[in-house]
Amino acid sequence: MKVLGVLGSPRIKGNSDILLDRALAGAGDSGAETEKIVLARKNISGCLDCRKCNETGVCAVKDDMLEIHEKILFADAVIHSVPVYFWSMTAQMKAYLDRWCALFDAKWQWQEQYIVRMLGKKIGLITVCGAPDVSITDPVVHCFKTLSDFTGMNWLGSVQASAAEKGEIEKNEDAGRMAFDLGKKAAS
Ligand SMILES: Cc1cc2nc3c(=O)[nH]c(=O)nc-3n(C[C@H](O)[C@H](O)[C@H](O)COP(=O)(O)O)c2cc1C
Repeated sequence: MKVLGVLGSPRIKGNSDILLDRALAGAGDSGAETEKIVLARKNISGCLDCRKCNETGVCAVKDDMLEIHEKILFADAVIHSVPVYFWSMTAQMKAYLDRWCALFDAKWQWQEQYIVRMLGKKIGLITVCGAPDVSITDPVVHCFKTLSDFTGMNWLGSVQASAAEKGEIEKNEDAGRMAFDLGKKAAS
């Protein structure tokens, strides 16, 4: 069992990083092997819509996303963690997500060679906003949950939390516990 954590915040040891670590600790507690990818430390360009991947399943943009595609394919579960930036996700996470395009064919179905690995793969989300009302994170949940539903993945659920200052989320024990439980669910 392998659980991959993908951090979309550029703020290392920030709120979404802390909650992702809690989730990976939960997964590890359940016996999973875990790995964290920090997107801000990677070189990931946006999708070019060149459609070369529709034929090959391999992205024509040769950057760090190619090795991340492999890690997604071989993980049993992927947990994303990202703050809200301007009522949406961060640029780092959006570039990463758009590059999932290479895993699909022209009809937005999994490439034949990836169907077995991607159908039913567990996917979850942690998202943090600075505003007190966590419904500000709903648009980010919508993106990931719709991706999951549309593509036949296995939606683990989301943790939606509020914290503004770096590390402030440490005070929110409920969010920490929910993230831990999300990780346990990913590993089950
Ligand atoms: C560029 C930028 C845009 C932001 N936009 C929003 C926003 O639209 N709504 C909100 O509630 N918080 C917003 N925030 C606040 C962050 O979501 C909040 O500080 C969060 O805790 C950051 O998470 P992190 O520590 O994981 O990076 C924004 C922060 C930055 C830097």
